[in-house]
Amino acid sequence: MTIIVTGGAGFIGGNFVHYMLKKYPQDRIVCIDKLTYAGNMSTLAGVMDNENFKFYKTDICDRVAICEIFETEKPDVVINFAAESHVDRSIENPEVFLQTNILGTQVLMDACRKYGIGRYHQVSTDEVYGDLPLDRPDLFFTEETPIHTSSPYSSSKAGADLLVLAYHRTYGLPVTISRCSNNYGPYHFPEKLIPLMIANALNDKALPVYGEGLNVRDWLYVEDHCKAIDLIVRKGRVGEVYNVGGHNEKRNIDIVKIILKELGKPESLITYVADRKGHDMRYAIDPTKISRELGWLPETKFEDGIKKTIAWYLENREWWENIISGEYQNYYEKMYGDRK
Ligand code: NAD
Ligand code: DAU
Repeated sequence: MTIIVTGGAGFIGGNFVHYMLKKYPQDRIVCIDKLTYAGNMSTLAGVMDNENFKFYKTDICDRVAICEIFETEKPDVVINFAAESHVDRSIENPEVFLQTNILGTQVLMDACRKYGIGRYHQVSTDEVYGDLPLDRPDLFFTEETPIHTSSPYSSSKAGADLLVLAYHRTYGLPVTISRCSNNYGPYHFPEKLIPLMIANALNDKALPVYGEGLNVRDWLYVEDHCKAIDLIVRKGRVGEVYNVGGHNEKRNIDIVKIILKELGKPESLITYVADRKGHDMRYAIDPTKISRELGWLPETKFEDGIKKTIAWYLENREWWENIISGEYQNYYEKMYGDRK
C-alpha cells in the first residue's frame, strides 16, 4: 500500500510517519509538506534513508504539483495532516488558514477524485464544536454536536470538514474524518502550551498563562492519536466522523504546575498575561463511537505521557533550541513582548 501523508514534517504528521514506517515496514509513505515555519526536516531525519519513505517539499494548494505527485506515486490512501494549526496565529492573520486548510483540502480531494484513490482521510479537530461551559462537566462533544466555531483557525477546519462531507455526498469520494482533542508528545512545536512551558521553564523564563489559566483542554498522547487514525483509515466506515479523545481534562494552570514540578522549577515563573481573544473555555471529547466501533482506547496515561514528553525535550534540546533561536524569536516578541 502507498499512503500519502501531508504535513508529515509537523508535530502529529511527523509522529504518524514514524509510527507507520515502524508498524507496517512493507507499506510506502509519501510525505508532502510545504515546510512552513511549523515544518522541520529534523523531525524526519530518522526516516529519510528508509527506502519506503519519500519526501516532497510541496504546497497542498499547488494543484499542478499535487497532480504530478499522484500521477507518479499512485497512492492508495491520502491522509491530510497539513494545516495552519495555531489559534493565536489565526487571530493575527486568518488568510493563510483559509488558503491551506480549506483550499488545500479541496485540491487534495480533487486529485483523489481524478486518480480514483481508495480513501481520503481528513485530520480534524474538536475545536469545530466550539466550547463547553466550565459549570457543566456532564457535557461532552459527540459526533452529533453542532459545528459552532470560535476562531479563524477552527472556522477554517470546520469549513474543510463540511467540504469533505460534501465531496462524499456529491461525488461519492470515500472519505473519513477524525476530530481529535489536544495532543502532546515529541516534536511538538514550541509555540503550543506544553512545549512552550517546558522550553521557558528550562530557560528560567516567565511562563505566560492566558487569563486566569482556568480553561480546560482534553489532552491525548500523540501516539494514541496516530493509532486512532490508522484504525479509522483501515476499518472506519466511509462517510463517517470519529471523535478521538481520552477523558483527560486538565486546566491550563494545572498543566503548567505539573511541568514546573517535574522540572524542579519554582511556581514564581508563572506570569498571568492578557487572555486570548474569543478564548474557548473547555473542550471534552466523548470517544464512545470509536471505542465501540473500532475498539480504540487511549493507552498512555497522562502522568506517564507528560513524563515521557518532558524527558524527550530534555534529551532533544537541539531540536527545539534550533527552532526557538531563529525566526521564532520575532514571533515570541510580537505575541508576548508587551502582553499584560
Ligand atoms: P503543525 O503545525 O505542527 O504541522 C503542520 C504541518 O503542515 C507542518 O509541517 C507544515 O509545514 C505543513 N503545512 C502547512 N501548510 C502547508 C501547505 N499549504 N502545504 C503543505 N504542507 C503544509 O500541526 P499539528 O499540530 O501537527 O496538526 C496536524 C493536523 O492535526 C492539523 O490538521 C491540525 O488541525 C490537526 N489537529 C491538531 C491537534 C493538536 O493538538 N496539535 C489536535 C487535533 C487536530
Ligand atoms: O483541541 C485541538 C486543538 O488543540 C488543535 O486543533 C490545535 O491545532 C492545537 O493548536 C490546539 O489548540 P489550543 O488552542 O487548545 O492549543 P494551545 O497549545 O495553543 O493552547 C492550549 C491552552 O493553553 C489554551 O487554552 C491557550 C493556553 N495558552 C497557550 C499558550 C501558547 C496559554 O495560557 N499560554 C500560552 O502561551
